[in-house]
Formats: sequence, C-alpha cells, structure tokens
Amino acid sequence: MVLRNPFTTIIVTGVPGVGKTTVLTQVRSILDSKGKKYMVVNFGDYMFKVASSKGWVRHRDEMRHLPLMRQLELQEYAAEAIRLDAEKVLGEGDILLVDTHAVIRTDTGYWPGLPEEVVKNLRPDSIVVIESPPEVIVARQKRDPTRYRADLARVEVVKELLDMARLAAMSSAVLVAASVFIVENVEGDPSIAANRVVELAEKLR
Ligand code: AP5
Repeated sequence: MVLRNPFTTIIVTGVPGVGKTTVLTQVRSILDSKGKKYMVVNFGDYMFKVASSKGWVRHRDEMRHLPLMRQLELQEYAAEAIRLDAEKVLGEGDILLVDTHAVIRTDTGYWPGLPEEVVKNLRPDSIVVIESPPEVIVARQKRDPTRYRADLARVEVVKELLDMARLAAMSSAVLVAASVFIVENVEGDPSIAANRVVELAEKLR
C-alpha cells in the first residue's frame, strides 16, 4: 500500500541554478501571509551534515563526485531524518516542502535523486519540477558565482539535464503514486512559480 504523511508533502526539484531556493523563499512568504504551518528543508543540507562529519567532503558540490554507494547512504539518511523531523512539528493540514534534485549529474552518469528507498521514505503527494529555458539557467548560474559549477554551466549540458530531470521525476513518482507538476520559473518574477506551488499544495488534499 502507498504510504502518505499526515501533512501534505511536496518535493521540489530542478537543475542547479534554476531557482528552486529562490522560488521556495517566495513560497514561504505566501504561506506566512496565509497563516499556514509549513516546513521547508534542503535535502542537500541533511546529506552535507553527515558527509562533512565523516570527512568525506568539504564543499556541497563535492557530494556528487563521491562513489555512488556513499551518495546512496547519504540520501537514505537524509530522507529518513527529514521525515522524522517533519513528523515532530507538522500535522494534518500542514505542508512539508523538500528542496532537492530528481537527478544528479555524477562522475559515473545520471544518478536518481529520489531512488525507491528515498522516495518511499519521504512519501510525497507531488514532485514539482521547476524549469526555465536552458540559456536562462546558464545565465543565472553565471550571475551566482558562489554556486558556479564549471561542468554544468553549458547550454547543451543543462538541456540534457532538464530532459533527464523530467524522466527521473516521473519514474520516482510512479513508485509512490505521486503527481509530477511542472512549473516554469519565469525570468524576473519567481513569485509566479511560487504561487503555482502554493496552489498545488492547496489542491492536493
Ligand atoms: P542544492 O543545495 O539543491 O544546490 P543546487 O542544486 O546547486 O542549488 P542552487 O542553490 O545552486 O540552485 P537553485 O536551483 O536553488 O537556484 P537559486 O535559487 O540559488 O544541492 C547541493 C548538492 O546536494 C547537490 O549538488 C547534490 O550533490 C546534493 N543533493 C541534493 N539533493 C540530492 C538528492 N536527492 N540525491 C543526491 N544528492 C543530492 O537561484 C540561482 C540564481 O538564479 C540566483 O542568483 C537567483 O537570484 C537567480 N534567480 C532565481 N530565480 C530567478 C528568476 N525568476 N529571475 C531571475 N533570477 C532568478
């Protein structure tokens, strides 16, 4: 049987630099203005906490260069820790938003951000895929030097990653009977995407 959390659970995915974190900042403001109880968590933060404590990485981006079995261990830890943390504070009618990736570009190929054990642990109602045209994403990556990834900041690389991200999101969604909701992060106005995510949250239950 497909398991669901008592609270609405939305996994927000998108290629690096598409603006997930920016859109989620706006989602927080909208939910605050509506008086909704919610939690926004960054999956990479949970992974990084363990990876850095074990001395495996010094920077977040190094995680996708770790051997895949180590990435899987970190993913499984993160998924469980996020659900347990959310269960402590959220109940029926509340919303959990998880900022993460449907697919990771690793040294050994495309790796699912939400493989079976991970997505089954998070129990999402929906997986959001945030998108923008590849040229726009590359321009955003280049304007954000703190997070610049030399191997990703090319239009043809981002184009392929966008395709893989849709395929990966649908594959993960099938495992838990979640919807896949595609949202464009319009250049200059992330609030359009944020409003669509909030509307989705209101319609899921
Ligand atoms: P994560 O923390 O998610 O980092 P990231 O993907 O590199 O995300 P960024 O913060 O760089 O990009 P963003 O899409 O949030 O864009 P932002 O809002 O900053 O992941 C870190 C690592 O964790 C990964 O590399 C991976 O190794 C690991 N990881 C995470 N989940 C995993 C999983 N499930 N499995 C395995 N590994 C996992 O915006 C970017 C720029 O664009 C900003 O300058 C912003 O101002 C601008 N911008 C945004 N929206 C707009 C707009 N509408 N108009 C104009 N400018 C905009």
